[in-house]
Amino acid sequence: MKCFIDKRLADYGDRFFWDIPVERVPHILVVGSSGSGKTYATKILLARFADTYPDSQLLVADYKADSDFSFLEDCQGFKRFDEVADILNMGLTILENRQKGIDTSRDFVIVCFDEYNAWQNSLDKKEREQVTRDYTRLIQLGRSFGIFVIISQQDAHKASLGQSRDSIGTVIALGRLSKETISMLFSNDKEVINPNNDRGVGYMKIDGKPLRHILVPGYNMSALENVIRQGVLRSDNAF
Ligand SMILES: Nc1ncnc2c1ncn2[C@@H]1O[C@H](COP(=O)(O)OP(=O)(O)O)[C@@H](O)[C@H]1O
Ligand SMILES: [Mg+2]
Repeated sequence: MKCFIDKRLADYGDRFFWDIPVERVPHILVVGSSGSGKTYATKILLARFADTYPDSQLLVADYKADSDFSFLEDCQGFKRFDEVADILNMGLTILENRQKGIDTSRDFVIVCFDEYNAWQNSLDKKEREQVTRDYTRLIQLGRSFGIFVIISQQDAHKASLGQSRDSIGTVIALGRLSKETISMLFSNDKEVINPNNDRGVGYMKIDGKPLRHILVPGYNMSALENVIRQGVLRSDNAF
């Protein structure tokens, strides 16, 4: 697809690499401080899924609720701020219907949470525990039913990832990286990691593959947003 070609990739040579294996549809975690390019990278991932799998459905939650996802404003499969839990529940409903055999489809469903950790922190203890249980269930059981999660958040400490870290096959960290983020996400590669990266530059680790230094290329974002929108509208039809 034309909007996925970027000249900067070639200009940078092979030091930077960006080829998310959407064929395997892994769960993906995107980590980075504010302004490091998480949402930008997340949108590229969403668009690639929607483009690679024309029957896939996207559900998107944006806790920050600024204008990043305003192109989804009128979609049922998009929620922001105090309605983020609805997206988790929609994902779980699809999972349960597939587990019960009511829904025999295995079309891919991508459940995306931008600023996941900030959302978690906004909840009281009881709510947070419930959300963590539900989210862990979606991550651990979703895979066999074609349901995958993309989470973006600012840091990667243990408390914020819980038991889910081991179930997430692909991690991406962008921009400046804290010691804790590096040791949580890339424990085997600590020595080779440069913690001071520009916006859109960082590391990607896919289960069982060597660490890669990556650059998230610039794209025609409005073209990608249109592809994402189609994917979210497909989930609207399912509810
Ligand atoms: N790889 C990139 N190429 C070009 N512009 C980018 C890239 N990554 C981020 N940007 C721009 O930088 C700004 C911050 O990125 P954003 O994804 O919103 O960061 P974050 O979500 O981590 O706070 C936005 O204006 C975005 O369009
Ligand atoms: Mg963001």
